Amino acid sequence: MWRIIDECHITNVAVLPEYRNRGIAGKLIQKMVEICKCSEISSMTLEVRVSNIPAINLYKKFGFFSVGKRPNYYTKPAEDALIMWKEIV
Ligand SMILES: CC(C)(COP(=O)(O)OP(=O)(O)OC[C@H]1O[C@@H](n2cnc3c(N)ncnc32)[C@H](O)[C@@H]1OP(=O)(O)O)[C@@H](O)C(=O)NCCC(=O)NCCS
Repeated sequence: MWRIIDECHITNVAVLPEYRNRGIAGKLIQKMVEICKCSEISSMTLEVRVSNIPAINLYKKFGFFSVGKRPNYYTKPAEDALIMWKEIV
């Protein structure tokens, strides 16, 4: 993730296929949220392919919600990005 003043931007989260569905990505997100809480960061954001249901569900589980779309954000294949956001309280 990148820090931009008081915002954190998650650039990527990935788990090798053979290790998925064991809670590893959840632990990574939890750790990122903890780091933000200790670093005076007020919000977290990210983009995700609109078709990436596993990732969207992962982020929703940790309190991220959809705030809009970036049309044709991705290439190969072309696809819109969902913008997700989380306030740190
Ligand atoms: C998305 C990804 C990181 C999830 O990793 P993971 O370690 O398997 O995820 P976890 O086991 O921690 O699951 C946490 C939550 O994610 C969601 N989730 C994970 N896999 C899912 C699937 N196949 N279908 C639907 N929801 C899924 C669920 O909400 C799950 O919570 P639950 O187990 O209580 O239902 C993994 O699938 C991955 O690496 N995908 C390819 C890379 C990618 O697309 N990254 C996101 C880029 S923005």
